[in-house]
Amino acid sequence: MYLVGNWKMNGQGAFATELARAVLREAVRMNVLESHTVICCPPALWIRDVVQICAGSGIACGAQDVHTHDSGAFTGNISAAMIKTAGCDYAIVGHSERRKYHAETDELIAQKVAACLRSDIIPILCVGETQAQRDSGEYLDIIAAQLTAVMKKNTELSQKVIISYEPIWAIGTGRVPAAPEIDKVSSFIHTLYQSAGFTDISVLYGGSVNPKNCAEIMSISSVNGVLVGGASLDVEQWTDIMQTATSKIR
Ligand code: PGA
Repeated sequence: MYLVGNWKMNGQGAFATELARAVLREAVRMNVLESHTVICCPPALWIRDVVQICAGSGIACGAQDVHTHDSGAFTGNISAAMIKTAGCDYAIVGHSERRKYHAETDELIAQKVAACLRSDIIPILCVGETQAQRDSGEYLDIIAAQLTAVMKKNTELSQKVIISYEPIWAIGTGRVPAAPEIDKVSSFIHTLYQSAGFTDISVLYGGSVNPKNCAEIMSISSVNGVLVGGASLDVEQWTDIMQTATSKIR
């Protein structure tokens, strides 16, 4: 299973390095890395520190975004090639906060996935519907459109792509879809990819995952892990989530 911590734009001073040290200590203590992949996604500024702290442990580092280009006149941006050099193996792409606050379109996100694959970065592609789209019943169409844009642009998508189903109305709200609903969407994503000839993709769930609900979410057979925001910033909560994963070996 994948256990991904999205630290977003949080933490000042030594916060990121202290959190990385604590995650490392607890992950090693619980032997979680023997059967699961733990990925820390700190703010870009602290990627090198986190990589250094976790070096050789099996804990991976991911960026929270990449640019579509490998280099060039793009003030303020960071490329997939650069984060690879800094020691990342993963990047979150198309998070709903990027879609919303940076007007990222499906087409742009497809280009970012391509940029990741060019630089041997495994993209963690986020998809999901708004509350209104869920209420109107069109959410599977929305998710299919988000995924299709990426598949069209990346016809040679390898199995090295992780999709995270993140209903926008569940992010940071404490509201989580019922387990059969999560299963319905994650199974839908698996089927969509398989019917397009891509095999063996991984589907995560993200949105208000916490120590109380993670056991049920991790028990859903179509779910291959969790992407955690708020609870990944709290050592106790993140430790509980990793602990829960240790009893779910599959
Ligand atoms: P949350 O965030 O766990 O705080 O809801 C999840 C995410 O945005 O990936």
